[in-house]
Amino acid sequence: MLSGIRPTGESFQLGNYVGAVRHWASMQDENECFFFLADLHALIDTPEPQRLRGRTRQAVAELLAMGVDPERSTVFAQGHVPEHAELGWILGCLTGFGEASRMTQFKDKGGGTVGLFTYPVLQAADILLYSADAVPIGEDQRQHLELTRDLAQRFNSRYGDTFSLPAAYAGRAGERIKDLRDPSRKMSKSIGGSGTVWVLDDPKTITKKVKSAVTDTGREVVASEEKPGVTNLLTILSVATGKALPELEQAYAGKGYGDFKADVADAVVELFAPVRERYAELVADEGYLDEVLADGAAAARGVATSMLTTVRDRVGLLAPRRT
Ligand code: TYM
Repeated sequence: MLSGIRPTGESFQLGNYVGAVRHWASMQDENECFFFLADLHALIDTPEPQRLRGRTRQAVAELLAMGVDPERSTVFAQGHVPEHAELGWILGCLTGFGEASRMTQFKDKGGGTVGLFTYPVLQAADILLYSADAVPIGEDQRQHLELTRDLAQRFNSRYGDTFSLPAAYAGRAGERIKDLRDPSRKMSKSIGGSGTVWVLDDPKTITKKVKSAVTDTGREVVASEEKPGVTNLLTILSVATGKALPELEQAYAGKGYGDFKADVADAVVELFAPVRERYAELVADEGYLDEVLADGAAAARGVATSMLTTVRDRVGLLAPRRT
């Protein structure tokens, strides 16, 4: 199993936790897991260098605070394993220009850098290097996983069986968390603002953001397409409390939005309180975090170099040899 996350934003946000990281943490016992900070992917926003470096280290502390365990999983930075970029190049030579142009991330931005254009190809390399079967990601990443499967199939039929195909999208419905201020779009690290709950927000800030979330007309607490704001809050409450939507709808029948929002706020505060606490301890120990990354990079490179040796051979790159 493998997944990645970009070390951008103030910290990770509620959507990252709900759509991805909580699944990572819960899958560690039954799977051989690789989790990485996609620092190369973060470069598409050309972050300030000092900030990217600092954020990458903090991001390790956040993942561990959210339950990723470096004793059971391989945790590393993508930039520490140069094989990602190399396989990305090779796969790029099998990707159609039109095919890459159809990726919504590029289309939605209406253009941008070559890095943004080839972003999904590097993501395919991330996944295929480790022969990942399962890739726990939010729904926004689904198209990238489909491209990964296409590229793996294309490579295998051109050069012989090399890559295993990751299972299609592993998420479940209702796991796309929306922006609290504008529930027509997803909550995102790059948008931020009062519609984004950061995992490390203090309890007061979380409460304020949730209480000022956009709700819909009417006063019934029910999940429906006409009520995207309320549905989003219900989803959040359901994840934070482990209660199913119908049970929650029943609990709030006739109660109105006020009580409901206060409870959502409390539930999110409670959900992230232990994360904040663990994070504060972990982030103070830079030496430990660097060690986690160094150990992770060594383990990841073991797998990646062996796959890349096969790939180089299959595509016909001459191996260096002394005579
Ligand atoms: P990133 O950093 O944007 O997001 C990390 C993970 O969080 C999920 N996510 C959400 N899920 C539900 N609701 C939301 N509002 C929400 N916002 C984000 C994302 O779907 C993602 O799973 N391209 C990836 C990083 C990456 C990667 C990979 C992932 C690079 N290589 C290989 C898997 C495998 C990204 O930008 O994630």
